[in-house]
Amino acid sequence: MRVSIHALRKMKSAGEKILALTAYDYPTAKIVDALDIPVLLVGDSLGMVALGHPTTLPVTLEVMVHHCQAVARGATKAIIVGDMPFGTYHTTPEDALRNAIRLVQDGGVTAVKLEGGKVVSDTVARIVSSGIPVMGHIGLTPQYVHQLGGYKVQGKTRDAAERLLQDALALEEAGAFAVVLECIPSALAKEVTEALSIPTIGIGAGPYCDGQIQVLGDILGLSDYVPKHAKQYTNLPDLMKQAVKMYLQEVKQGTFPPLT
Ligand code: KIV
Repeated sequence: MRVSIHALRKMKSAGEKILALTAYDYPTAKIVDALDIPVLLVGDSLGMVALGHPTTLPVTLEVMVHHCQAVARGATKAIIVGDMPFGTYHTTPEDALRNAIRLVQDGGVTAVKLEGGKVVSDTVARIVSSGIPVMGHIGLTPQYVHQLGGYKVQGKTRDAAERLLQDALALEEAGAFAVVLECIPSALAKEVTEALSIPTIGIGAGPYCDGQIQVLGDILGLSDYVPKHAKQYTNLPDLMKQAVKMYLQEVKQGTFPPLT
């Protein structure tokens, strides 16, 4: 049975850490789903990590649907959250709802995620009212990279911290089931986590969030650029090169393939 959004709220109350990871395709979704990770995010970070774009901005709804379908085929237990890509939720709440429905019906996701606080709270409420669970995302919001002037820590001044807290409260009020806090000071993440009854999922936001998310490619060494907050646990490219070299060597030596 698939994990429900209500289970995440219970985990928060019980003080049990909520684990989340990104997945963009069928094989990785299958691997991480087998590890009983409750939340898999088909993040628009796939634009950078899997497709080689410089930002997440070129990712379209069609691309997201394609990757969500693959993850949905591979993961049968986790809540699958599909990112709403840039340009799919800022025109009107009705457009946003139509695009969220597309991710659920065609992409096979359980929930959608969108970036922004108060500014998207009406949109969050509209999508939630149709029965689609919504995850918020505040702090460093990569779709705003040009306005933010780069991938920088957010909420550092008292005013900015207060705005961020108000954004988090607005998302909860609008019906979001969880909020990603990206790249904000630990003390602010703690304050937001304590102020909300829904779970906070941190990335570059210190240890006090209810859960943690990482980009799978960052922890496996697959990303071109590994952010400061990520920890690389292995070097998958090296392991892949070793295996491919063995294959090449055996073909050259004639020890593979065997006689048929
Ligand atoms: O796109 C993504 O992978 C994300 C995570 C960094 C939270 O939004």
